[in-house]
Amino acid sequence: MTAYTVTVAPEGRTFRCPDTKSILVGIEHNGGADAVQVGCRSGGCGVCRVEVLEGTYTAKRMSKAFCTDDDVAHGILLSCRAYPTSDLVVRPCPKPRDH
Ligand code: FES
Repeated sequence: MTAYTVTVAPEGRTFRCPDTKSILVGIEHNGGADAVQVGCRSGGCGVCRVEVLEGTYTAKRMSKAFCTDDDVAHGILLSCRAYPTSDLVVRPCPKPRDH
């Protein structure tokens, strides 16, 4: 198990998140339940969306209802369905972007 530092923008709070847990659960379990919106934890509600500003991750399948192909292309993902593979900087974006 490797732990990475996940920084939540714009406040800049940091959390040590293991690669064995989703980004969302890693933040939540390390005192950050108020830093991101926590919902179903299983890809079904969309409130945990974040934009990845820096770093890499692996992601499980995500519902296109909450993360379109365009979102994924712009680094937007469901943090409960993604796992860190490096230190990360993320910005919560629970609502769909305006186009
Ligand atoms: S917490 Fe519901 S989709 Fe991530």
